[in-house]
Amino acid sequence: MVSNPDSLTGVISVPGDKSISHRALILNSIATGSATVTGLSGGADVVSTMACMRALGSEIEEGNQPGTVKINGSGSALREPQDILDAGNSGTSMRLLCGLLASQDFTSVLTGDCSLRSRPMSRVVEPLKEMGADILGRKGDTLAPLTLRGGSLRGIEYTMPVASAQVKSSIMLAGLSAQGNTILHQPAPSRDHTERMLSAMGVTVDTDGLSLTLRPGSLRCVDLAVPGDISSAAFWLVAGLCHPNANVLVTGVGLNPSRTGILEALQAMGAGNNLALKNERVVGGEPVADLMARSCQLKGAEIGGDIIPRIIDELPVLAVAACFAEGTTVIRDAAELRVKETDRIQTTVTQLLRLGADIQATEDGMVIHGTGSLTGAVCDSCGDHRLAMSLAVAGLLAKGETTILDAGAASVSYPTFWESLAQLSGTQQSQA
Ligand code: S3P
Repeated sequence: MVSNPDSLTGVISVPGDKSISHRALILNSIATGSATVTGLSGGADVVSTMACMRALGSEIEEGNQPGTVKINGSGSALREPQDILDAGNSGTSMRLLCGLLASQDFTSVLTGDCSLRSRPMSRVVEPLKEMGADILGRKGDTLAPLTLRGGSLRGIEYTMPVASAQVKSSIMLAGLSAQGNTILHQPAPSRDHTERMLSAMGVTVDTDGLSLTLRPGSLRCVDLAVPGDISSAAFWLVAGLCHPNANVLVTGVGLNPSRTGILEALQAMGAGNNLALKNERVVGGEPVADLMARSCQLKGAEIGGDIIPRIIDELPVLAVAACFAEGTTVIRDAAELRVKETDRIQTTVTQLLRLGADIQATEDGMVIHGTGSLTGAVCDSCGDHRLAMSLAVAGLLAKGETTILDAGAASVSYPTFWESLAQLSGTQQSQA
């Protein structure tokens, strides 16, 4: 249960970036040498990737410090797994592993939980088949479980129909050991952690606007310090800006420009100096800063176009912010939300309606009329981690008590979320 605390103050850190964590495990596993990774996310999604990589023969030893792992690279010689690989709830694990396994000279089967088994896989299966991959799946090879019989691949030139870092990374992973270059044309920029990590590991990806060219090559392991996840920090930024008596500092947050759409959106909503970057620095090739958020009155804004892929995971919590903004917020061009862990347009709208929000779903987004208040009620994460945490933020701002069913879903990306919430609100709020 969550209620509205008198104040929201404190300094916290958030888990390591989930996207970078997946890539650090996968890419170091197929590189030569060994690497120590610190700050790895402990979320269930990254644990799924780690378990799959171990089943493929990767040596990943956990250190004494939480989030520290040592990876002994296999130099791309993975081994046939003895059982089905389970990606759990993680779309990133499944799509990136498809690209990796398409070229491995053995058979593997990838599955996931019921949410993941209903998410579209044709976006990776189609281009990988074009590269020569042999992939079978349910519903005409569009849904997991997927069976991959790996073999030799050829590079392709491919125009991506959706701006997706998962698709881009999957094709690049396949392209690493393909014959010939792989050229991708993206409809809009998406997160570029794979490109950055590949370059740091010795394979250059040439980018030219929205196009990129990858030459096949082998990788060298690199030590990495994973920065804090801006997608996790976003919950505290919205809570800090919208609570009337708040001052929150989130330390060590990764600010890769392909991820900072949430900061731009909150600025467009009038956050001004109440949302500030402190102590800006570069860690492991990624820009990092501490983020301060304190109480202010936000105003409605129009959020759409090329910013969407750079804010996609933060849109549910942005909808919460919009409930407390003056005026109307319109989120458009975000139809991708419909194929996330849940249909996040439908689940965000349905659950915020339960708390009294003035919100409507549109085909590709939402329209939210700020009322300046929400009322505590029983609502449901629908098993979606980002919805669980967005509803918790709504509960911190709402009058009365909010009970969130299946609140434990938060642990998919943020296992210590409820402790952070208790710390900032100065209460021992129980997990709903
Ligand atoms: C991710 C990319 C995004 C994002 C997901 C993580 C990644 O998905 O929503 O949480 O690590 O590449 P898409 O690239 O499919 O939009």
